[in-house]
Amino acid sequence: MTIRPILTVPNPILKQISKPVTDVTDATRALMDDMLETMYAAPGIGLAAVQIGVPLNIIVMDLAREEEPPNPQYFINPEILRSDEETTPYEEGCLSVPEVFEEVERAKEVKLRYINYHGEQIEEWAEGLYAVCIQHEMDHLKGILFIDYLSRLKRTRAVKKVQKAEKLKGNL
Ligand code: NI
Repeated sequence: MTIRPILTVPNPILKQISKPVTDVTDATRALMDDMLETMYAAPGIGLAAVQIGVPLNIIVMDLAREEEPPNPQYFINPEILRSDEETTPYEEGCLSVPEVFEEVERAKEVKLRYINYHGEQIEEWAEGLYAVCIQHEMDHLKGILFIDYLSRLKRTRAVKKVQKAEKLKGNL
């Protein structure tokens, strides 16, 4: 497993539309292993493949609390089958927009269909943090970042903040 660099805004790759995975192979699983390790190292609770520069419909997530054992989740070709009409605000952050936290309104519950690490198709409802996180991550697959829901002023300010921090770290 390898920790891969996480792309940050305004890298244009983050705006790419990710492609479906046609076959779950050892290479897919190796990529998911890298994604999980990269996410844990960051640290974060969710990561889409495009954030490490691989525009494929793959997401990893771990919503376990600190005192709980790790609970890695893998989503290949996730789809939202149904969305609760009720929405709820949540203060979101993103590994591609570090140190920026803003409230976003999303569906309270969503019904998901995806393929897991073992290539099995799963259908289930997600609610709470799970619902927030999967909707945030699935936006990445469409080239959408949570800051795209903010006002232009807030978005510009967020991108500038990230660029400045990256410059200081010598990443730009
Ligand atoms: Ni994100």
